Amino acid sequence: MATIIDGKMLSLKLKEEMKGRIAQMKEEGIVPKLVVVLVGNDSASQVYVRNKHKSCGEVGIESEVITMPEETTQQELLEVVERLNQDNSVDGILVQLPLPKQIDEKTVLRAIRPDKDVDGFHPVNVGLLSIGDECFAPATPSGIVVMLKEYGIEIAGKHCVIVGRSNIVGKPMAALMLKENATVTVCHSKTNNLAEITRQADILIVATGRRNTVTADMVKEGVVVIDVGMNRNELGKLCGDVDFENVKEKASFITPVPGGVGPMTITELLESTILAAKRHH
Ligand code: GUN
Repeated sequence: MATIIDGKMLSLKLKEEMKGRIAQMKEEGIVPKLVVVLVGNDSASQVYVRNKHKSCGEVGIESEVITMPEETTQQELLEVVERLNQDNSVDGILVQLPLPKQIDEKTVLRAIRPDKDVDGFHPVNVGLLSIGDECFAPATPSGIVVMLKEYGIEIAGKHCVIVGRSNIVGKPMAALMLKENATVTVCHSKTNNLAEITRQADILIVATGRRNTVTADMVKEGVVVIDVGMNRNELGKLCGDVDFENVKEKASFITPVPGGVGPMTITELLESTILAAKRHH
């Protein structure tokens, strides 16, 4: 039976420690500020943005949420981004995804100043991450690395299998695990014999957005399982991409949903905002 990785408790601990650092920055006249832009009515995004705003308040980061209607044009959004780019009081800018269909996500992400891009989605930051340089790395994969280290899980030399190749999780996860000296395999919807590959994983990270992507027969004894999924089952209950109940019997460590990866994502966003503020001063 696996040790359940408690992302919620870990994030509380890290936020507590962050409070002290932010108080110290304030004494030096630096007040980190994050602006989150939310366009449209996506209900999950509304919850995520509320949580980000609340967490900023808890640790002493100033935060502002700009909400724009579903029918916002790309030009209107670009104008807001440009205003935030030029506002010296703003350290971090985050445009919540997904965006309504009339807006091209790529164009908007490229408009954010790379030194305010706390999400790490601008091609400049993506490039820096891929060559292993200092940059803003996406929050979810960064949070996963922190979580593994906090639980004393060795990464170097291990076979890390990632299922999912999104720009938000899968691809940056691969770059971060390479930086930590893991041997990395990235699987996706077109992968042949997925189970054969996942069974080789020492560390298995699943980010497909599909329930039961990984079942107990697809993992080896002692595997470390990180579940990035956020789905609802037929009863409307939150669940991840992994069959938690059965996989936990074989794993050495496993993250629950909710209470695993999610809280760590926010913690890392706060870290990136602190870093942005330090760099700006
Ligand atoms: N939507 C889902 N995850 C994220 C994230 O990490 N950042 C942004 N901006 N939007 C998201």
